[in-house]
Amino acid sequence: MQKTRDVVVCGSCVVDVLVRPVPLDEPLGAGRLVRTEPLVLATGGIVSNAGVTLARLGMSTAAFTYLGDDAWADVIRSRYAAEGLATGGLLTLAGVPTSTTAVMIDPSGERTFLHAVGAPKRLDKWAFLENLDLFAASRAMLLGYFSLLPALQDDLPEVLAAVRGVGCMTALDAAGTGGTLAELAPSLPHLDLYVPSHKEASHQTGEDDPERILATLRDAGAAGVVGVKLGGEGALLSERAGECVAIAAVEPPGAVVDTTGAGDCFIGGLLCGLLRGMPLGEAGRLAAACGARCVTALGATTAAGDYESTARLAGLGRPQ
Ligand SMILES: Nc1ncnc2c1ncn2[C@@H]1O[C@H](COP(=O)(O)OP(=O)(O)OP(=O)(O)O)[C@@H](O)[C@H]1O
Ligand SMILES: [Mg+2]
Repeated sequence: MQKTRDVVVCGSCVVDVLVRPVPLDEPLGAGRLVRTEPLVLATGGIVSNAGVTLARLGMSTAAFTYLGDDAWADVIRSRYAAEGLATGGLLTLAGVPTSTTAVMIDPSGERTFLHAVGAPKRLDKWAFLENLDLFAASRAMLLGYFSLLPALQDDLPEVLAAVRGVGCMTALDAAGTGGTLAELAPSLPHLDLYVPSHKEASHQTGEDDPERILATLRDAGAAGVVGVKLGGEGALLSERAGECVAIAAVEPPGAVVDTTGAGDCFIGGLLCGLLRGMPLGEAGRLAAACGARCVTALGATTAAGDYESTARLAGLGRPQ
């Protein structure tokens, strides 16, 4: 099938309401009135964070997940449309709420999350198998988060094989604990790209050293590009067994304000680089620049930018 889209981003899609400052050193109960700044409405989850990153980098990007039939779904649809994301894959699940989080931020910036998982948790293999046309028309799919999609997890190898079967590259990100290697291993041979955070990868592999983490993922069946995100220290990526490329962190273009979502922005940048045909080291550099931009603003994609300025921040020279 003719490819009309670069990436479909699938899975976690959340409306965030940011409340600050909330003095969390005293109980909030007993009818207390706390005066705050005006509430800030934002979108989160991998569909929002990687999706907007990719769209701003100029990639043709679609969102695919379940939303509820509530007012929060309208917030997601209108914000994605404003970012240029295709919204036809945002499916309504009646009687189930859209995923929401109230983020309470104390005066020091420390965050407490009040989260209702809602509709995306219902994603199962049929959601994907009944919409394979969307993947057939796309060059790549990015799904998140492994360990937080209980209705899909056991069938994930089958879904990844089906998506690949229609000529669509597969990428996965993890969150939460990351789950176990026993749970992940059946999916690894079906992934073209898997780059969890150090915390998730350590939980999965029982290893701390990034090279040993990657070797363990290879031994468990990973055949595509694997890596581990290392926060302010960058990332380690590997194209094939025994070969690693260290990606240095990019100096953030401002003070570090909020690191939430840096991992999603990194994966968005990495996919963009790979789909543009860059060697892994350069794609990793573009990814690190996306992560570095993310951390300079409140909200994962507030500071996300276009390809030219991000490539310049990454030191990649002229656009390819
Ligand atoms: N303080 C920082 N300075 C520069 N770059 C950073 C910083 N924090 C993160 N990054 C970049 O973003 C990438 C992803 O961050 P991180 O390793 O925290 O991912 P993550 O744990 O999946 O994040 P999250 O799940 O919170 O989005 C890093 O590999 C790095 O390139
Ligand atoms: Mg992450």
